[in-house]
Amino acid sequence: MLQDKNIILGVTGSISVYKAVDLASKLVQAGAVVDVVMTEAATEFVKPISFGSLTKRPVITEMFPDTTDYNIAHISLSDRADLVVICPATANTIAKLANGIADDMLSCTVLATEAPVIIAPAMNYRMYRNEVTQENVDKLKSRGFVFIGPATGRLASGAVGQGRLIEITEVLGAIRQVLGKSGDLSGRRIVVTAGGTQEPIDPVRRVSNRSSGKMGYALAEVARDRGASVVLISAPTSLPAPYGIELVSIETAQQMHDAVVKSIADADALIMAAAVADYRPKNISDSKIKKSDDSLNIELEKTTDILSVVNAPVKVGFAAESDDLESNAKEKLAKKNLDLIIANDITAEGSGFDADTNEVLIIDRSGQKEKLPLMPKIDVAHKILDRVVALISK
Ligand SMILES: Cc1cc2nc3c(=O)[nH]c(=O)nc-3n(C[C@H](O)[C@H](O)[C@H](O)COP(=O)(O)O)c2cc1C
Repeated sequence: MLQDKNIILGVTGSISVYKAVDLASKLVQAGAVVDVVMTEAATEFVKPISFGSLTKRPVITEMFPDTTDYNIAHISLSDRADLVVICPATANTIAKLANGIADDMLSCTVLATEAPVIIAPAMNYRMYRNEVTQENVDKLKSRGFVFIGPATGRLASGAVGQGRLIEITEVLGAIRQVLGKSGDLSGRRIVVTAGGTQEPIDPVRRVSNRSSGKMGYALAEVARDRGASVVLISAPTSLPAPYGIELVSIETAQQMHDAVVKSIADADALIMAAAVADYRPKNISDSKIKKSDDSLNIELEKTTDILSVVNAPVKVGFAAESDDLESNAKEKLAKKNLDLIIANDITAEGSGFDADTNEVLIIDRSGQKEKLPLMPKIDVAHKILDRVVALISK
């Protein structure tokens, strides 16, 4: 997705400049070609060499460098840019961009580019809520600039308010989403479920499973990166909410069922990667069940099998099995009327719960099988979505 993309990272004079070093590093790791343009104020906080040694490219800080290279940098840079991201963006730079001022290399480059521009503001909360800043932000938004953040929280001054630079993972999510806008899932709506549902026994205890949600979150993020609008229905996980995805948080199998039914109406595909409880306690105690010397019996009742009762143009299920992987998966595929089932042997090394990798067998409606080698869950997600794209366009 980011491989070989030309990204201009504009860095301005905020206390949070150090976080942009991490962004530059992550963009380079993902394969992007990153040209950093720093304002003079930004260089007061972090030296250009920090960026240059990560990007392996010259960092641009001056409009009129003492050089005999007559390649006009703000034009050549802006010409080949796939995307410009300004992170962090000061109130001053936002004001300049809103008013067409081009008195340094960054403002000049932005004025000259036709690439999409993402702005991640960072400033004192009073500067941010000042009417003039708000007007500038609105003006830029109405011209198609994408704003992310600022977040609300503790600011460098110690005050609490809206002005914190948004998390770098979210900036990366926004970059991926903007770059993927015209991807092969553009205009499609995909519903993904993730995580392990939790079924209460009493106000303290619950029945759950070991699903981490990583496979479902990877699917949701990759679908977003390929242009889809994504609804992610998630049981509790420790994963951060992905940028640009409608997150519906639920706990129980019944809540997941209701959320799926609600969101499926105009969806092109439903991908159920969640580990939904098959059974739940029949009676939920209103008060904490007291410990006693006797054994405790909890009667369980079946939950609704969501995939069997809902319809979608494309239905994809998962089968996490410890025995008879293929035959169990095929049985599920037929019983639930699925287009695809993704079977994984949870006992295999590197597969299953909480791993960042997975080794899966994809089986389609006609019984055709594709065995994928062990690979990162993000790559598994791409493979599954390749199949979903083909099924949607049938
Ligand atoms: C210690 C310090 C921290 C600052 N942090 C911010 C900030 O987070 N956001 C902001 O808009 N301005 C901040 N400023 C003010 C800007 O650096 C100043 O407006 C500067 O002119 C911005 O120039 P630039 O937009 O060209 O980078 C800070 C100034 C100082 C001295």
